[in-house]
Amino acid sequence: MQRKITSAILLVGGMGTRMQPLTFSTPKPMLKVAGVPFTEHQIVKAREAGITEIVLATSFMAEIFEPYFGNGEKFGLKISYAVEESALGTGGAIRNAAKKLSGTGPVVIFNGDVLSSHNLREQMEFHETNNADVTLYLTEVPDARAFGVVELDASKRILTFNEKMENPPTNMINAGCYIFNHDVIESIPENAVISVERETFPGLLNNDGRLFGFVDSNYWLDIGNPGALLKATSDLISGVASSSAVDEALADGRIFRRDSTLLHGENVVFEQPSTQDSGCFIGSGAVIGSQSTLSRCVVGENAIVGEKAVLINTFVAPGFHVPAATLAENAFLGFTR
Ligand code: GDD
Ligand code: MG
Repeated sequence: MQRKITSAILLVGGMGTRMQPLTFSTPKPMLKVAGVPFTEHQIVKAREAGITEIVLATSFMAEIFEPYFGNGEKFGLKISYAVEESALGTGGAIRNAAKKLSGTGPVVIFNGDVLSSHNLREQMEFHETNNADVTLYLTEVPDARAFGVVELDASKRILTFNEKMENPPTNMINAGCYIFNHDVIESIPENAVISVERETFPGLLNNDGRLFGFVDSNYWLDIGNPGALLKATSDLISGVASSSAVDEALADGRIFRRDSTLLHGENVVFEQPSTQDSGCFIGSGAVIGSQSTLSRCVVGENAIVGEKAVLINTFVAPGFHVPAATLAENAFLGFTR
């Protein structure tokens, strides 16, 4: 009989080093994508797939999450927090967080930085049909070197898993959303620094573990750097990607729609006339100067875009002042990189 999968762990303890300076005061998963903290997009996705309890596995800046998400009531599921005093790695974090879950059924695990349109319910069914120990969501990318890479047999059973290698044998990568049987989680040593990618998966494969790959070619993005944060925002606003968390934030009056291609926070000043052609998010308190043009841009909170500026695919850091008549494309203005 099909077991219903209702528990999840969200890995949100990474340092977000590649996101500096945005992560000096905000952990990466709390950075906003289309005006909504990234973790909220994942929580809403989990809820829509039938998850009723979720543990946030936190370490770096753990104290930022709970004031926002509370016990989860506002988000329609139960949320609790597992705090690592020092980072335990992905495997150690899963082991530590699982102690907070009720029940012993399979658990969905999310990397805390992946925006995807993959069908999580189908992944759950696939896990059960294959009687798998672990099911990994997989996707194909042009260059697999920066990811976990797998080889599969014809039945989609995983034969090998290698984390970040120079000459990957395939382009099929770990897309960062797993289903783990409870006993597999319990086999991870307690209170130790363990990488699920470098230790747990290879170890299970050596012991004939039943690891399966759920291959899905829908939208997928690892939000690992400011460029990806910008892309995720404009993809969500222009409809290339979708997340019900955006609709919920609009309905609650936490963000606002100016037209079909622009969303914004509170107290934004649009000096007239300015034009925006596609996929822009303007943070609270920002000022958009007259006769400026913005396309696929994120303007951080309290930033000022001077008049007649033309910004294309550009990210303006919070509080930064873009001088009048600036022309910028594919730029990060006010970032110390
Ligand atoms: N709680 C906790 N503790 N979370 C952690 C820790 C830790 O010690 N270390 C990492 N995380 C979280 C990060 O916050 C992130 O959400 C997730 O685990 C993955 O870490 P990343 O640092 O983003 O890894 P990556 O992007 O280089 O690689 C991972 O994701 C790829 C897909 O995006 C791996 O899982 C790859 O195999 C995969 O292909
Ligand atoms: Mg990542």
